[in-house]
Amino acid sequence: MTYTYNFDEIRERKNTAKWARARAIGAIGMGIADMDFRLAPEIVEAIKERAECGEFGYTAMETPDYEAVLDWLTYRGAAPVPRAHLVGTPGVLYAARNGMYTVTSPGDKVIVQTPLHTPSIATAAMQGRIPLVNRLVYRDGRYEIDFNDLEDRFREGARVLMMCAPNNPTGRVWTREELESIATLVNRYDAYVVCDEIHRDIIWGDRRHLSPTAVPSLAERSIAVFSTSKTFNMGGFHVGSAIIPNEELRARFVKQFYSIGHTCVRPSSLDLAAQTAAYTKGRAWYEQMMAYVDENFTVALEHLDGLPIRATHPEGTFLLWVDISELGLYTQELREVMSEKWRVLGDVGLLYDTAEYQNKNELEHHVRLNLATPRANVIEAFDRIRRYFKS
Ligand SMILES: Cc1ncc(COP(=O)(O)O)c(C=O)c1O
Repeated sequence: MTYTYNFDEIRERKNTAKWARARAIGAIGMGIADMDFRLAPEIVEAIKERAECGEFGYTAMETPDYEAVLDWLTYRGAAPVPRAHLVGTPGVLYAARNGMYTVTSPGDKVIVQTPLHTPSIATAAMQGRIPLVNRLVYRDGRYEIDFNDLEDRFREGARVLMMCAPNNPTGRVWTREELESIATLVNRYDAYVVCDEIHRDIIWGDRRHLSPTAVPSLAERSIAVFSTSKTFNMGGFHVGSAIIPNEELRARFVKQFYSIGHTCVRPSSLDLAAQTAAYTKGRAWYEQMMAYVDENFTVALEHLDGLPIRATHPEGTFLLWVDISELGLYTQELREVMSEKWRVLGDVGLLYDTAEYQNKNELEHHVRLNLATPRANVIEAFDRIRRYFKS
């Protein structure tokens, strides 16, 4: 890969949560899933241009550039999505919650598959919903869905499965067979899927992201939500999209948006300009970023070779899910080791499970490390970890 963007640049990242604590203790920040790379200059230019126009009144007339979103999906190899199926949103979490509210009422049961991104777990308990857990099982070197357990959860009356595809933190990219098995259950129990696809563009090797909205037996019961947050390091923007093939469901989703104040939380002009620029002018940056982060995984895994650590290149996401059970450290000790010995701050495993399971399971012995950072950080961080194990 010939790089025309500088991913090696070490930036101070003054305005982000990720580095605030790390810097204070001389550690390398590898928590929080944003990248340490500068926004693509094409996006910066588009924001400047929009700002130069000097008009920031109410933006009711400004809509997302849907063609830009659809072109991006095609470029990424998705099956054609009709324009009518696309809905603009102010961000992924917001839209995922809206999807949940659309297909459930207070008191309804909602399934989450742990390990899972913490705010997504919290989502399932919002506005009186009752979370049910379908834990992913680690089998033959990867996490898999326990379909018997999933069926039990639907039998308990769950109305919706809140999926994460690819899964954060394990990096699993779900296969067509897995989605079809989900479809069988969702149809059998008259339920729905809300699929958080925020990491859908970060897929490794020859795998392909497949949305439930593109699986015929599941499409009519699915809501997929995604954005530029992970793909282009735009987590600070509030803009995204939803794909909802079922017309009646889509109408309910839009109505639900307005009932919780979508008019108050619509994306700003700058969000919309940034999204359009990312999808239309960001391909080269994206391709190079992917090649760079892929090399980061190689470097990191080489450093871990021979250590009592279990970690493999994920199928998707820029997150390395590390199992250090052999050390037998519990969460508090693990936090101390990360800040005092490694001086590399990742996110501890228990964050990715529900309270009922916390302190009681193997996730305690995991840590999630974010590898979307300049190479020098990766080398230094994994040197530090290696030295700790060798000392
Ligand atoms: C699975 C998942 N969903 C949602 C989000 C955040 O969504 P948003 O960009 O809407 O804040 C993240 C960020 O880490 C994530 O990993």
